[in-house]
Amino acid sequence: MLAVVGRSFVRRLCTLQSISKTILSKFSSSSLKSRLHTTQTKSPINTHIRSIHHGNTRTSIMPGYSQARVYADANVNRPEEYWNYEDVSIDWGTPEKYEIVRKIGRGKYSEVFQGVNVADNDSLCVIKILKPVKKKKITREVLILRNLMGGKNIINLLDTVKDPQSGTPSLVFEYINNVDFKVLYPTFTDFDNRYYIFELLKALDYCHSMGIMHRDVKPHNIMIDHEKKMLRLIDWGLAEFYHPHKEYNVRVASRYYKGPELLVDLQEYDYSLDMWSLGCMFAGMIFKKDPFFHGHDNYDQLVKIARVLGTEDLYAYLDKYNLELDSYFDCILQKHSKKDWWRFTNAENQHFTSPEALDFLNGLLRYDHMERFTAKEAMNHPLFDVVKAAAKKS
Ligand SMILES: Nc1ncnc2c1ncn2[C@@H]1O[C@H](COP(=O)(O)OP(=O)(O)OP(=O)(O)O)[C@@H](O)[C@H]1O
Ligand SMILES: [Mg+2]
Repeated sequence: MLAVVGRSFVRRLCTLQSISKTILSKFSSSSLKSRLHTTQTKSPINTHIRSIHHGNTRTSIMPGYSQARVYADANVNRPEEYWNYEDVSIDWGTPEKYEIVRKIGRGKYSEVFQGVNVADNDSLCVIKILKPVKKKKITREVLILRNLMGGKNIINLLDTVKDPQSGTPSLVFEYINNVDFKVLYPTFTDFDNRYYIFELLKALDYCHSMGIMHRDVKPHNIMIDHEKKMLRLIDWGLAEFYHPHKEYNVRVASRYYKGPELLVDLQEYDYSLDMWSLGCMFAGMIFKKDPFFHGHDNYDQLVKIARVLGTEDLYAYLDKYNLELDSYFDCILQKHSKKDWWRFTNAENQHFTSPEALDFLNGLLRYDHMERFTAKEAMNHPLFDVVKAAAKKS
């Protein structure tokens, strides 16, 4: 309680400071231009075309320019019916052949039940009863699930039904015998970690290649049947079609997995958002610290990231994309050095923190979304050599 009162007090104080800054800036804009406690100015390099290197690819980029490094034209090259969910009408069936067995989940947007299909030998299924939301959000989820149907490690949508009386829509999925990640992940070996991250990358590379960003990658949305060594990426409720230079809503993903782009209000983001979320998940798994970035609100989330990645790279990121930080950060961010990943290793997690694992993590957890590994690049990382070797043997 005290902490909450403390934070809201600080915020009020910051708001007051920012108002007085706005007034002051009318008289002396240059003196207030410095961000926080640094006197950093925009780097002159920003006025030139810059290049970044990724293995053999070299991308020339303009300052402030943001575009997916791969699959940027995935929707440009597909017919409008593929990505335009505004005009889609869904053929809703009736739900009588499904019977609810037990409740298995409750999200912001739905209540989820394990069920059976009585018309199909009581085969198990999942019935996701949607809460009232905008029609567009529902048609988007259904169109995306249909487009991705049959894709590697993507949850299968079996049916779309509507209760004739109430008009409540439900989505019916294949059932995965999942164990809560808080129980399951601590039992994983180093090989299991690598294996499931590789399986998840297959799903991510597939959806990205199909022009779709998931935007809510987190352990709760990854179903694992450990006996069958089977993984499925679920919950496509926040997923979106990627169109180059479209400005997207930054209020997506769950706090601990939100990429810096969302926290600094960079709307021209892309598939690389999912790669950050994957990085957060992987960091939690190898360092045995879940969540790895434990922010108390969206502001504090960026602070938690900056304490690890450092403030200097944060400013370089902001400069590159011509962004200004909310003045509230003046009070809370302070100055932080970049920490070496080795600092987070300890006796408990040392089995998981191999040099390959830390190098892999380093390729994902980067402020600059255009610098992060793509899913394909991630799959080619040596971290997965043992997984590929084991797959060849079996
Ligand atoms: N196919 C499935 N097999 C097994 N369990 C599932 C399946 N689909 C969903 N669940 C369970 O139900 C929970 C909620 O499902 P889902 O994430 O799709 O709903 P949501 O309302 O969008 O959730 P949230 O708002 O929390 O992200 C999941 O976290 C999982 O525990
Ligand atoms: Mg969910």
